[in-house]
Amino acid sequence: MTDKSILVKELFENTALYLTYDYNLRIRKETVDAYTEGKTFDAVLDMPCGTGAMSRSLLDKTKKLSLVDISANMLAIASENIPETQRYKTECINDDFFKLDIPPGSYDLVICLGLLAHVNSPEQLLRKISGIIKPGGMLIIQNTDASHFYSHLIRFYLGLKGLIRKQPYKLNKVKASFLEQVLHEEGFRREAAYRYNQSFLGFSNLFSNEKKYELTRRFFGDTRHNKHASWGSDYTYCFVKRA
Ligand SMILES: C[S@@+](CC[C@H](N)C(=O)[O-])C[C@H]1O[C@@H](n2cnc3c(N)ncnc32)[C@H](O)[C@@H]1O
Repeated sequence: MTDKSILVKELFENTALYLTYDYNLRIRKETVDAYTEGKTFDAVLDMPCGTGAMSRSLLDKTKKLSLVDISANMLAIASENIPETQRYKTECINDDFFKLDIPPGSYDLVICLGLLAHVNSPEQLLRKISGIIKPGGMLIIQNTDASHFYSHLIRFYLGLKGLIRKQPYKLNKVKASFLEQVLHEEGFRREAAYRYNQSFLGFSNLFSNEKKYELTRRFFGDTRHNKHASWGSDYTYCFVKRA
């Protein structure tokens, strides 16, 4: 394992920390549901799956679901939450994605949310994911645009609070333009991108989870009508690989 993957694993073995991550998980899940509405799949990969909440509802739409996460504790939650009747078509893999030897074109949908900031090489991640998606297949991927004004604001705010130095490792700063360029080179067409902001800066403690969800939806809308999209630093994309 490389240094960063050891630290990432340690960080996410503490699942309680992530589960307080709140309304963002709900927004992500609803975005995945909207992008996959009315579609069916042969094989779906949710990587990193975390608690599996993003892909569980796809079990009715796919013949096979693969859940991959480097954190054993996260994967245990994901596995426990699979209904008994759907277990036969689910595989759970506790490993570093970069170590997996997955045959090219294995999946017609890959969901990759919340990972780009945590890997050694975002470009290597994008190219590896691209290789395992079939021509015509879909990629739902999330990134916080490092060049967006809100990302600069967050870094400034966290810097002031001394929080950046307390992080166990440096989060990658991935620009939207970089991600889009690499995926374009890999033959992907951008179908959609839902944009919003993942935090309320210093005002987070003023609002309940429910309120933050409500305020976010009121300001940014949903995938069908993404209001004020240019204000949103966080992108959940839907790409399709050219056939
Ligand atoms: C921010 S969470 C996102 C989980 C889920 N996709 C979601 O949106 O709720 C990041 C997850 O990535 C996992 N992870 C980090 N590096 C990984 C790697 N190299 N291979 C597989 N999983 C990894 C962590 O264990 C953690 O569960």
